[in-house]
Amino acid sequence: MRVLAVSSRHVAFRATSSAGHPFESPSLELQEPTRGAVEAAAAHLRTGEIVAFPTETVYGLGADARSSTAVAKIYAAKNRPSDNPLILHVASLTYLRQLCPELPDVYRVLIDRFWPGPLTILLPLDRVRSGISDLCTKSQSTFAVRMPEHPLALALLHTADMALAAPSANASTRPSPTTAAHVVHDLEGRIDMVLDGGACTVGVESTVVDGLHDPPLVLRPGGVTVEALRACGGPWADVQVYRPDVATAAEVPRTPGMKYKHYSPSHTKVVLVEHNAEHLPSKQLARSLGLDGERMAVARASGWHDLRDMENGGDFTVRELGKTSKEVASNIFSVLRELDGIVDIVFVEGVSEAGEGLAVMNRLRKAATVVLARGGHVA
Ligand code: TXA
Ligand code: MG
Repeated sequence: MRVLAVSSRHVAFRATSSAGHPFESPSLELQEPTRGAVEAAAAHLRTGEIVAFPTETVYGLGADARSSTAVAKIYAAKNRPSDNPLILHVASLTYLRQLCPELPDVYRVLIDRFWPGPLTILLPLDRVRSGISDLCTKSQSTFAVRMPEHPLALALLHTADMALAAPSANASTRPSPTTAAHVVHDLEGRIDMVLDGGACTVGVESTVVDGLHDPPLVLRPGGVTVEALRACGGPWADVQVYRPDVATAAEVPRTPGMKYKHYSPSHTKVVLVEHNAEHLPSKQLARSLGLDGERMAVARASGWHDLRDMENGGDFTVRELGKTSKEVASNIFSVLRELDGIVDIVFVEGVSEAGEGLAVMNRLRKAATVVLARGGHVA
């Protein structure tokens, strides 16, 4: 696999018009050596191949969204379930209008506030006119799209002059990748090229919203918080968080990706202790949960800071997730990956669901073998 070092310092993205959205039709200037790497990646994409690249959320595995041959390679490389649709990425609103000529008014305020950024919207799909591969959208009547904020993602989209379908660049079921090394670890031998632009800042995937539904729904919590969506007013003041766990079994999941095993270390079991639950990590607790293994770690946020003074505290490998939910979001996947195989069990300190915490807890619940809630409840 070719790992090409690139830097955001070599990318200048400029608005071309002073009126309207700055990313209506921006222009790009690239300096070497980033320029050569981005051009090589774009050329690879044009031949129907796939390339991993950094975004502000997680690393993505990109393919020309209009080429079924190319998109099929994403599913194969990741071993991704074939009914799980993909998010498209664009670098300008002008490009987006090629896929959807009339952007629904409900999204105007979101596009103005959050693009480029970690927000994915669902748009009506015209399969024939848009040319989007059916492999991106599966059985949906919509397609999912976002404009990423990372300069290297924008530079690649702009240079390749295409919409890229791009899920996270991890092997399916594993924690999402937030560095190029994570991508190499999972996909070595399965893909040819990764652009290495350093660590992702947001650390969890984009928020997926359906503004075509009344009331609007958050289908996947992510980098843009529900509070920030509500603050947009209008129909967004009433946005609801869709919870597949409360849907009836007969109901088709609205966002198919959320029903699968996800985000889990391969060899280490995750015990999630919810925010404000009274449980503290201990070997006895692990045994009482029926979990085998001697090597244990604690991944802590701000609540377990004096863990060293606790019973058995010294028996654990300790990792810091960060003090705020935002910090926890940016660290959570790399901490889970780092501990994978080094310990048998990791106790993770849950955070409040306010702000970025909602996305963090959504990912941790999926990664966990056991969830310990307040009042001794085990989920
Ligand atoms: O932050 C991100 O969004 C990352 C980076 C690489 O940009 N990408 C990402 O893509 O997470 P992916 O393909 O792994 O996430 C797709 C999610 C899944 O939960 C999928 O079910 C949902 O979006 N999705 C895609 N198209 C949909 C559609 N038409 N309707 C409902 N959900 C859709
Ligand atoms: Mg993913």
